[in-house]
Amino acid sequence: MRVDVITIFPELFGPFLETSLIGRAIRGDLVRIDVHDLRHWTSDRHRTVDDEPYGGGGGMVMTAPPWVSAVRAVCGERRPRRILLSPQGRRLDDRRVRSLAGEGDLVLLCGRYEGIDERVRELVVDEEISIGDYVLSGGEVAAMVLIEALSRQVPGVVGLADSVRRESFRNGELDFPQYTRPREVEGLPVPEVLLSGDHEAIERWRRAQSRTRTAERRPDLQAPDDPTSKP
Ligand code: ADE
Repeated sequence: MRVDVITIFPELFGPFLETSLIGRAIRGDLVRIDVHDLRHWTSDRHRTVDDEPYGGGGGMVMTAPPWVSAVRAVCGERRPRRILLSPQGRRLDDRRVRSLAGEGDLVLLCGRYEGIDERVRELVVDEEISIGDYVLSGGEVAAMVLIEALSRQVPGVVGLADSVRRESFRNGELDFPQYTRPREVEGLPVPEVLLSGDHEAIERWRRAQSRTRTAERRPDLQAPDDPTSKP
């Protein structure tokens, strides 16, 4: 998978791309991530990327020319999917993560300030994605969320493929509760079934826990053919 990120804060990505799973994936050439400074494509002495909005109103708007030049230069001859992170986008979910991971080649545009000139969308954006119904100061953290979720889908990035398959959402259900040593924490024991060695009973218990959790916390996730889902 290859991802190019365009931002006015490239330094935000440093430790994120060096640490843990993503760092290993990059060092192992499973994922390539290049971060580009939008200001590189400005032409004035102050490297300006924003201006006052036509029509008035508060705040500043990111200007189109640096974005258009940056995206075109980063793409070159390639045809990556160009994604603008913004609260106006379609909300990201597991299904979209998996289909984007199949694309293999992405450019992420991290907007800032009050907004971005609409012509950027028209000229160099294929899709707009939001990571949730709240407003961040910019798209950088959202881009990191997307990169982390996508990287987990790349074969070999997560050690045990099983842990990607079984984790929350894969079957439209939340994960079951997990326990490790010690056996008791402040009077709270590990559920007896997990100590039984009876693998079928453990599997049944875990499935039931997943189903109950999903029904209680995220009924919107339940599959229509799930017998425990409400009509
Ligand atoms: N930029 C600001 N808020 C955002 C959000 N919720 N998702 C993606 N990008 C954003």
